Amino acid sequence: MISIIPLVEIDPALVEDLLDAAFGPGRTDRTAYKVREGMDILEGLSVAAVDSSENELLGSLQCWPVALTDEAGKQHPMIMVGPVAVHPDCQGKGVGQSMLTALLKELHEGENLPLVMIGDPAYYDRFFDFSPARTKGWTLPGPWEPERLLVRAHDQTPLPEKGKLGPWVRPVKH
Ligand SMILES: CC(C)(COP(=O)(O)OP(=O)(O)OC[C@H]1O[C@@H](n2cnc3c(N)ncnc32)[C@H](O)[C@@H]1OP(=O)(O)O)[C@@H](O)C(=O)NCCC(=O)NCCS
Repeated sequence: MISIIPLVEIDPALVEDLLDAAFGPGRTDRTAYKVREGMDILEGLSVAAVDSSENELLGSLQCWPVALTDEAGKQHPMIMVGPVAVHPDCQGKGVGQSMLTALLKELHEGENLPLVMIGDPAYYDRFFDFSPARTKGWTLPGPWEPERLLVRAHDQTPLPEKGKLGPWVRPVKH
């Protein structure tokens, strides 16, 4: 049986092994890693899927604080989702959808920051309304395929048309 638990309960070395298995070598050179470089993981939103009978890690989903910096230099905080990884031996069995559903449940609809990710729209748009429609004018700190830069936000949520996505540099309070 699949259980969704906080990722913080899993040995980080097991998560790294899972990510290697799902993404292969060179994964840490991907642009997504640069977008959230230096950030601490959002523990309350990052989850793991485990097979509770076998005590086995099946999947992981991480969330990070990032921001889109607009042309005026203003930061618009967002939550970056990913990597989302399901072990190759158990893909296509609903594990990915269970983790995403758990994340969205954790967030209160309408009160949240936009969710952003780099992923396959054929999956994330189909099941979870992540779309590239509003990210066309955004840039990233590395190469990316525009149709894979996805955001999930309410239609009413204002999003800059242009901006650069990167780590969320928190303003210093004086
Ligand atoms: C992409 C991924 C997270 C999906 O999770 P999963 O548990 O395998 O998928 P689910 O069981 O939740 O969903 C299965 C459905 O999604 C479809 N699907 C799975 N991966 C897909 C993809 N990359 N693109 C389009 N559709 C996909 C399946 O065909 C299936 O469709 P069906 O119900 O019509 O048969 C997982 O396969 C994975 O980790 N892949 C490798 C890493 C990766 O590419 N991560 C995404 C970028 S962050």
